[in-house]
Amino acid sequence: MKKNQNIIIIGGAGYIGSVVSDFFLKKNYTVISIDNLIYNQKKPGKKKNFKFINSNFSKLSKIDKFINYNSVVILLAGLVGDPITKKYPKISKKINETSMIKFINLCFEKKVSHLIFVSTCSNYGISNTKKMVNENSKLNPLSLYANSKIRIEKYLKKKNKKNKVKTTILRFATAFGLSKRMRFDLTINQFVREIYLKNNLEVYDTGTWRPYCHVNDFAGAIYKTIMKKDINLFDIFNVGSNKNNFTKENIIKKINKFIKIKNNVTFVGETKDHRNYKVNFSKMKKNLNFAPKYDVNYGIREIVNALKNKKFLELNQSKDLYGNYKIKNNLK
Ligand SMILES: NC(=O)c1ccc[n+]([C@@H]2O[C@H](COP(=O)([O-])OP(=O)(O)OC[C@H]3O[C@@H](n4cnc5c(N)ncnc54)[C@H](O)[C@@H]3O)[C@@H](O)[C@H]2O)c1
Repeated sequence: MKKNQNIIIIGGAGYIGSVVSDFFLKKNYTVISIDNLIYNQKKPGKKKNFKFINSNFSKLSKIDKFINYNSVVILLAGLVGDPITKKYPKISKKINETSMIKFINLCFEKKVSHLIFVSTCSNYGISNTKKMVNENSKLNPLSLYANSKIRIEKYLKKKNKKNKVKTTILRFATAFGLSKRMRFDLTINQFVREIYLKNNLEVYDTGTWRPYCHVNDFAGAIYKTIMKKDINLFDIFNVGSNKNNFTKENIIKKINKFIKIKNNVTFVGETKDHRNYKVNFSKMKKNLNFAPKYDVNYGIREIVNALKNKKFLELNQSKDLYGNYKIKNNLK
């Protein structure tokens, strides 16, 4: 990765994309962020070395001119999460599969310098939690969301056999932490906010395992991936830390150290979400020398502090603030 290369972030106004954009701008890269603000979220502000294009990434004629052999393309866009993809299955397939394939074809035609597709550890779905799953483990998708990710992963693998474009798939753990485009529909963020505000919180599937990773660390992981000179032409990495696999009950106990929980938290049992997986992240550590810097306690503390400073108090799902609850009506 050279300094004169452009970083193209598809989905750059999202929860993770906003943090990744700022991370690369701080390192003096030129960032082009392409996002259609599907949740009516705020447009990113003007900044030096930064261009924001308010567009659907499927509008190739509009974005084609920004992508060339010198581009590092980070693919974050899509309908993200099980609930939102379940709510809009047709739109979800269109964005997460049809449009994604169209866009990937463009990147291959242009022979971009590096293509990074952000996937998810949700692909592992359900596993024997006595053992940690790794990149070679069987995938067990339990949702449309994960099925679409796996379809794209397979497409990229096949495509890469014929056309040599450096391609890396990063399977992210579940994110937490602060971002300019905040999401309170993610486990840790949601639990902290509800408990802080003394709202009733029903915790389902308390004993199920999941890996977590701070949103800042994802930016760091992408950076390590881009900077690795002799990275394989095609590879897959889990992104997170072996130490950050937790059950929901573990997370509640951690939050309790910061905010004393009274009787507003109810454990409901094993009903809603059957995902259960412990993930091994050793490959990323060994090959790319990546280890997360921010632990769960850090994330809890920063969200509590933001709430104490009266941020994010006006959460209103019908207004669609701070989460992937409802997409805008005038979708183009
Ligand atoms: N947040 C997590 O816990 C998590 C975990 C694992 C993987 N990931 C992956 O990371 C990526 C980013 O997730 P996020 O949490 O930032 O989600 P997000 O919903 O906040 O961001 C997605 C962004 O994509 C944009 N978008 C959607 N459809 C678009 C389209 N057709 N054209 C242009 N822009 C479009 C949205 O406006 C949004 O800004 C996703 O690929 C997701 O699968 C996230």
